[in-house]
Amino acid sequence: MDKFIIKGGIPLKGEVQISGAKNAAVAIIPAAVLSRDVCVLDNVPSISDVEVALEILAYMGAEIKRLGKSKIQIDSSRITDGTVPYDLARSTRGSSYFLGALLGRFGSARVPMPGGCDLGSRPIDQHIKCFEALGAKADIQHGIVDISADRLIGTQIYFDKVTVGGTINALLACVCAEGLTIIENAAKEPHIVDVANFLNSMGADIMGAGTDVIKIKGVRALHGTEYSVIPDQIEAGTFMVAAAATGGDITLKNVIPKHLEPITAKLRKIGVYVEIADDSDNIRVVGRSKYQSVDIKTSPHPGFPTDMQPQMTTLLTMAEGTSMVTESIFDTRFKYVDELRRMGADITVDSRVAVVRGVEHLTGAPVKPSDLRAGAALIIAGLAAQGTTEIEDIYHIERGYEEMEVKLRNLGADIVKRYYPDDDKLRKAL
Ligand code: EPZ
Repeated sequence: MDKFIIKGGIPLKGEVQISGAKNAAVAIIPAAVLSRDVCVLDNVPSISDVEVALEILAYMGAEIKRLGKSKIQIDSSRITDGTVPYDLARSTRGSSYFLGALLGRFGSARVPMPGGCDLGSRPIDQHIKCFEALGAKADIQHGIVDISADRLIGTQIYFDKVTVGGTINALLACVCAEGLTIIENAAKEPHIVDVANFLNSMGADIMGAGTDVIKIKGVRALHGTEYSVIPDQIEAGTFMVAAAATGGDITLKNVIPKHLEPITAKLRKIGVYVEIADDSDNIRVVGRSKYQSVDIKTSPHPGFPTDMQPQMTTLLTMAEGTSMVTESIFDTRFKYVDELRRMGADITVDSRVAVVRGVEHLTGAPVKPSDLRAGAALIIAGLAAQGTTEIEDIYHIERGYEEMEVKLRNLGADIVKRYYPDDDKLRKAL
């Protein structure tokens, strides 16, 4: 297996180009199924969750052409079979978007229940509720969601809880439904707006994305398009926190500052200098040696994003005083705390609240992330720690960060990716 080996204590310096947004790309790729024409996507991140989405498309008969490092052409005209392979589907959460896309295109879909980061219970009851509201029948047997509808008819959908995936799947299923659909209590994340903009560039008629009420007038068919995915606000936030944690000075290129407002606000509150030039797509972040503790409560956009909670908590382990971090989106998103404790962090967790008491510094250690953002947090901890940190199971990280170690090395970090033959195989071989 691969590991990251990090020698900590080096302030990050220089410029980093932010890649396309994972959580937009993994929805836009399935959304291309809705058109029988060719779609060309740009600024697509090279990450394994995107590879899985493309593999699923290819399995169903779509033709995928790579036009460049982050440019992809998708021709789904020859897709006939709305069935998604089990193992591929359960390796990501984004596979659930094939439900809405295939239902919207063919009136039916058979998609295994999704997987993704283990953050506690992650049902899709709200997705199913919206498909049924549009007139579909849904059945879940043997781990597979089977949905079908003679006709999809526009309706009023009210989400019992704010759900990014549910909101996106509702858009995919209703853009070609008959009549008007109104989605209430919709999620407002930047990637929701990006998916809506992508669909509108294909001829959909969606208004209000980014607010909690989205209105969609069904159209007869969608045409092909050329579209560029928005920059990844969580990758950007991760690098901002890494610069802060190492007392560095970096400039992030290709960002949308507005999408980073909740993160920027918190970083400024603890004492990080963040500079945003007017109508620029750059952000400069300058760290210091000590920070103020601050309380954090994750909530749906425009609140503080749950996908930045592990990274920010890691920074707070080195702040002066005590911080309270409340995770209000997922049941269990503090598994990484045990690994931070190996590095000297002083954190106690009670259900959805972590109490973080600042320590002088962290020390490097062998650690193992349980999910994507836990991996990002452990990288930040390793960059800031005294000594060497070895991070195992880096496949979690490579699901959502493009060439993370290359970008960090270009900022002066001492980080390498090493291949270690699987210990069991090694033992057997010896
Ligand atoms: C998306 O997950 C993201 N994943 C997650 O990012 C992100 O943390 C999350 O949105 C919140 O922003 C992708 O976009 C691929 P939700 P999703 O539906 O859609 C509950 C990362 O690190 N819920 O907004 O699964 C659910 O259990 C990943 O990039 C229901 O109860 O999130 C959770 O508690 C991790 N029923 C809450 O709502 C449903 O039908 C929010 O989930 C759907 C969700």
